[in-house]
Amino acid sequence: MKKKISDLIKKKNKQKIVSLTAYSKNVASILDKYCDIILVGDSLGSVLYNYKSTREVSLDIMIEHSKSVRMGIKKALMVVDMPYNSYRNSKEALKNAKKIMIKTRCDAVKLEGGKKIYEIIKTLIKNKIPVMGHLGLLPQSDKTFKFKGKKKSERDKILKDALLLERAGVFSIVLECVETSLAKIVTRNIKVPTIGIGASKYCDGQILVFDDLIGLNPINYRFVKKYANLRDQITKAVSNYSKEVRKIKFPNKKNSY
Ligand code: KIV
Repeated sequence: MKKKISDLIKKKNKQKIVSLTAYSKNVASILDKYCDIILVGDSLGSVLYNYKSTREVSLDIMIEHSKSVRMGIKKALMVVDMPYNSYRNSKEALKNAKKIMIKTRCDAVKLEGGKKIYEIIKTLIKNKIPVMGHLGLLPQSDKTFKFKGKKKSERDKILKDALLLERAGVFSIVLECVETSLAKIVTRNIKVPTIGIGASKYCDGQILVFDDLIGLNPINYRFVKKYANLRDQITKAVSNYSKEVRKIKFPNKKNSY
């Protein structure tokens, strides 16, 4: 049965929420059985396109990948990242969020930030567009990629922002690279689920970038656990193939007509 946003909220304090990113149909169709949420993240900018930052990701790229992901999902909730510069004010955000919802048939959009985008998020929700928040490390706007929650001012701001987003009506909040005790405090103080990435076991759910989980990305991040090492497996397969082609072992009779 297709999952609903209301089911997700009910999981808080009962069952952990499982979430992963996907950028294409084939991957989404594998994740669908195991995930509550599949996110078409703008991380695709660095993962697929080698962009220096997610700021370079366009609305059209997000929509095309999301259309592909949509074809692979039957049950999970599908959330699409609104790219940088697609929500500079309420009017623009509403126009672009509507475009994303209509063209991709996703269930919700995700926006990065707190107080600064409070009115924008309220406008989307008033217009029946479900919104997922994103606090902590904000790849679209942060200059340095360090974990958040060392300084008191930073901790206070993140908690305040989480309470504001809850008030605006978001159905969940991603906490990215947030110090453990702060993630615990935020999670305990809001009624909607928190989804952590590098934000400890105390969040209501977890999300990872799929390419990191399967070990395709050669970079190691502290917050990632590689559940497979596909880079090694692909290297072995391609190396064997190249040797066999050069030694005229492939194709053999069985592979020929
Ligand atoms: O873009 C993305 O993949 C994300 C996740 C890391 C949460 O925002």
